[in-house]
Amino acid sequence: MRIVLGVGGGIAAYKVASLLRLFTEAGHDVTVIPTEAATRFVGVATWEALSGHPVSNSVFDAVHTVNHVRLGHEAELIVVAPATADLLARAATGQADDLLLNTLLMAGDCPVLMAPAMHTEMWQHPATEANVETLRSRGVTVLEPASGRLTGADSGPGRLPEPEAIFTAAMALAGAAASAASAAMPAVKADMDTAPAAGPAAAQPAVPPLAGLTVTISAGGTREPLDPVRFLGNRSSGKQGVALAAAASAAGARVRLLAAHMEVPAPAGVELVQVETALELREAALHAAADSDVVIMAAAVADFRPADVAGTKIKKRDDVADPVINLVRNPDILRELVEVRDAASRNQLIVGFAAETGDAGGDVLDYARDKLRRKACDLLVVNQVGRDLVFGEDTNSVVILSRDGSEPQEASGSKSDVAAAVIDRISAELSRAVPPA
Ligand code: CTP
Repeated sequence: MRIVLGVGGGIAAYKVASLLRLFTEAGHDVTVIPTEAATRFVGVATWEALSGHPVSNSVFDAVHTVNHVRLGHEAELIVVAPATADLLARAATGQADDLLLNTLLMAGDCPVLMAPAMHTEMWQHPATEANVETLRSRGVTVLEPASGRLTGADSGPGRLPEPEAIFTAAMALAGAAASAASAAMPAVKADMDTAPAAGPAAAQPAVPPLAGLTVTISAGGTREPLDPVRFLGNRSSGKQGVALAAAASAAGARVRLLAAHMEVPAPAGVELVQVETALELREAALHAAADSDVVIMAAAVADFRPADVAGTKIKKRDDVADPVINLVRNPDILRELVEVRDAASRNQLIVGFAAETGDAGGDVLDYARDKLRRKACDLLVVNQVGRDLVFGEDTNSVVILSRDGSEPQEASGSKSDVAAAVIDRISAELSRAVPPA
């Protein structure tokens, strides 16, 4: 694949040498375009040696090959790292004052991924937030920066994600763009059959299916404290929720991951909100849902919590009876999200998960249909659970039920395969809900 790697003028430019290595070792042909400021951190000779191509940022070099047009046209993927506040601003306003900005403007339907790095204040400044919003609304995938130590003594969100994480996100984006392009092929072909000149459909960019949308996903299992060292928890690993977050991100969405206890790390490029209890998850979910187009409740939420939480460790004592744990019911977050959405007449798709075992009173699908009625969400992803089934495993097998009563859809395979099927189904539901103009 032909990749253009734009490098911005930030200290993290040195890390991009490793990213370049990952791309070339995977067999990709990479042209590096550093900004003028980037060359103050890492010299042109380094980029030339590692990429095996001449490197320039001037539109006046290699003029006979019309570089600024050619690179944008030929690129199959453009990755910009570190995307500084200045670079994001220049890209958002469509400036074309150097070769990298020209290339971005000439990129047409090529997928573009930007990995920001800057100080927290700059990242959280309304000007930067507006620029990121603008770029995302145009289909550019702007990763969330990592959190941690920054250039000075400060720390917070603003670190460049690790090269491996950028590499994974870039490959996922290129894969999603390629499958979107091949899905669009028949329409383009039909157009070509009837119109000798390339019609408007042929010029349509391959916009990822969830580009411009915000998707909130809860994952993992809540922990309900009994005392400062003990809790009531469940077996959820968070793997399915994390796979959904990665799939939604690859489909171009801005993703918020509300993470209760998880055994796996969150994917790069998602906004991470960490929660512990069902009550904390409820607050985070209601807040995040206010500006989300899709909410997926994949977390295993404890239905009950201890009525009293001891302030100090509960000790066993011979002179008093063993303690009894009284439980109170937690709110049903999914049900509440649906109620709030309906009360606000919000255009939002809400997806629940159901873990069922089935018993003498009914099978898994009987219970799931009943749950779908009670929760009133749009889609319910149902899986059969048991001690050796699903929890912590890398594979899953689900049935997707819809409130409109359409045929149950089965999906199975790795948790990534299942996540991709769920995200595809969500994209299909959204495109049915909003017929094209
Ligand atoms: N859920 C929720 N709030 C709760 C319990 C569950 O939002 N207090 C959500 C889960 O995230 C999931 C769906 O509801 O999307 C179904 O979860 P499940 O545990 O299967 O259902 P319950 O409502 O707990 O029903 P039951 O325990 O009776 O099977």
